[in-house]
Amino acid sequence: MPEAAPWRCVGHTTRESGASYDQPVGIQITPSILSADFAELGAEIGRIPGADWVHVDVMDNHFVPNLTFGPGMIEALARRTELPVDAHLMITEADRHAAAYVEAGAASVTFHVEAAAAPVRLAREIRKQGARASMALKPATPIEPYEDLLAELDMVLIMTVEPGFGGQQFLDLCLPKIRAARALMKKHGLETWLQVDGGISMETIERCAEAGADVFVAGSAVFSADDPDAMVASLREKAEGASQSVGQSL
Ligand code: DX5
Ligand code: ZN
Repeated sequence: MPEAAPWRCVGHTTRESGASYDQPVGIQITPSILSADFAELGAEIGRIPGADWVHVDVMDNHFVPNLTFGPGMIEALARRTELPVDAHLMITEADRHAAAYVEAGAASVTFHVEAAAAPVRLAREIRKQGARASMALKPATPIEPYEDLLAELDMVLIMTVEPGFGGQQFLDLCLPKIRAARALMKKHGLETWLQVDGGISMETIERCAEAGADVFVAGSAVFSADDPDAMVASLREKAEGASQSVGQSL
């Protein structure tokens, strides 16, 4: 793993060390292994040492029409990599199942608000277990009804495609929601991370950074590149440039 901001060194050991991510960390790139070679996942993660997190898409064939990984895979991956694991749960009954993903070693657990019966209780339980709590919104789900929940969350994930598959086209219609979410966070004095996921590439990442996103999931853009780690660096550079150019106006 390259030299990095200090928080990165403690990220994956949060549960054991009690370390937090309180200091601002800026732009983060989170490759999704959904577009990696499933038969070679350990080796594939080894190709992105410059990433900040590894994003694992958990799909149950009910909440989304696709089936991928469970807690056993999270556990195996967390053992294998120094990178903290960012588990994105696209599953029904998130309230019942999220705990198993923290226990398996995920440092951040994202549930979909559309699949959570009691999002505040769930976020508190995830945090109490020692992971970062994050809430995801599908493209048609507005952020405004959840304004009062923001303080309970470490991260909000705004989906920029309909969840379920990698390699889909970025939905520009999600950009106003990214802006609105960042504005609500600022209004409440929160430094909540704002993640975007779906269709993020060299062509689309700047729009999201300008709108206020700071954590970027990229699946096909990273794993279809000849050099995935170089793509991580290029995406980071683009996002940092765009976020600096809008500066304090966000
Ligand atoms: C989609 C997943 C994404 C997916 C993104 O439901 O949540 O994480 O891997 O893939 P790309 O970057 O190819 O759109
Ligand atoms: Zn995802």
